[in-house]
Amino acid sequence: MTDTFKAFLVSETDGRFEPSIVDRTLDDLPPGDVVINVEYSSLNYKDALSASGNKGVTRNYPHTPGIDAAGSVESSIDPRLQPGDPVIVMGYDLGMNTAGGFAGKIRVPSDWVIRRPKSLSAEDAMVFGTAGFTAAMCVDTLLQVGIAPEQGPVLVTGATGGVGIVAVWLLRNMGFDVVASTGKSDQEALLKAVGATSVISREALLENAARPMNKPQWAAVVDTVGGAVLSNVIKSVQYGGSVACCGLVGGNDINTSVFPFILRGVNLLGVDSVELPLDVKQDIWNMIGKQWMFPDFATFKADTTRQITLPQLPEAIAQVLKGQHLGRYVVKVD
Ligand SMILES: NC(=O)c1ccc[n+]([C@@H]2O[C@H](COP(=O)([O-])OP(=O)(O)OC[C@H]3O[C@@H](n4cnc5c(N)ncnc54)[C@H](OP(=O)(O)O)[C@@H]3O)[C@@H](O)[C@H]2O)c1
Repeated sequence: MTDTFKAFLVSETDGRFEPSIVDRTLDDLPPGDVVINVEYSSLNYKDALSASGNKGVTRNYPHTPGIDAAGSVESSIDPRLQPGDPVIVMGYDLGMNTAGGFAGKIRVPSDWVIRRPKSLSAEDAMVFGTAGFTAAMCVDTLLQVGIAPEQGPVLVTGATGGVGIVAVWLLRNMGFDVVASTGKSDQEALLKAVGATSVISREALLENAARPMNKPQWAAVVDTVGGAVLSNVIKSVQYGGSVACCGLVGGNDINTSVFPFILRGVNLLGVDSVELPLDVKQDIWNMIGKQWMFPDFATFKADTTRQITLPQLPEAIAQVLKGQHLGRYVVKVD
């Protein structure tokens, strides 16, 4: 008898996209060198788009979303990976047009497989997931251009979201003065508990949008929002400061003049976690598992992470699409 496993499957009927929990077998998975037993996945903004029929993310249905997976190797054609090895898979095509981590098993190319640091359980790896990894990438990108705490405050936009909340926590633990911007006026206490020195409204970042430049405020910015917020924030970056740009929840256009770049030497730094070469992904995960696993991680996890199961995904996805959720959803798969 063939082993079955549970999967969250989104089907398309007459332009409507309906989820269900189904039994699958390995025959339902795409070809690949490595079969992985998925213990935990996580819910990211891109998963919510895939699960709701966004053809820019997923072309063909039925489809199992889940751009993140953490678990262990079940079998591998590639001798570098052995049964039982703890692993993470994130990005590349996982969960987009390759059946993803919202299932008991995935089958992927070995070139997508990251060795999970021993210090990270599958669950804790997914507290980070792609969102937390991207926050880490944004912070690393800013550190690489020389941002340091004494230079002034760092702004994090979309701060109650997955990327934003991890960025706030990481930066605070590195000694930065973190200003968190949010559309949720009632979440100031959460953001301060996680590490924000102060909290400002999303609307405050849209003030004076008609001006070519604004008062310099930010030594650096982690922007998860894009659109009008990013367009205006660039004008408030201090001389020589940098913006790590990774998201588009607020829009994918930016409208700016060259002034911030040629009058203040502002750096706009793009961050992509998806197609990043595997060795760089591995280095960042090793950092997350070691020097960036700060002592208050357990408190951070308790404050910001909700564990859900596959049947609870539709409700969580609706929250993400409305921008109403807080922090991270970890998905217990097995
Ligand atoms: N480049 C990459 O490799 C990469 C990787 C991961 C994620 N991303 C992108 O980064 C962004 C954030 O991802 P995430 O996982 O953190 O998403 P998320 O958990 O859904 O959080 C997004 C946050 O943005 C804010 N927001 C929602 N709607 C908004 C709007 N219309 N205008 C302004 N702000 C809004 C909300 O926070 P507040 O209420 O606190 O403002 C929300 O919690 C997404 O666009 C995602 O696609 C990119």
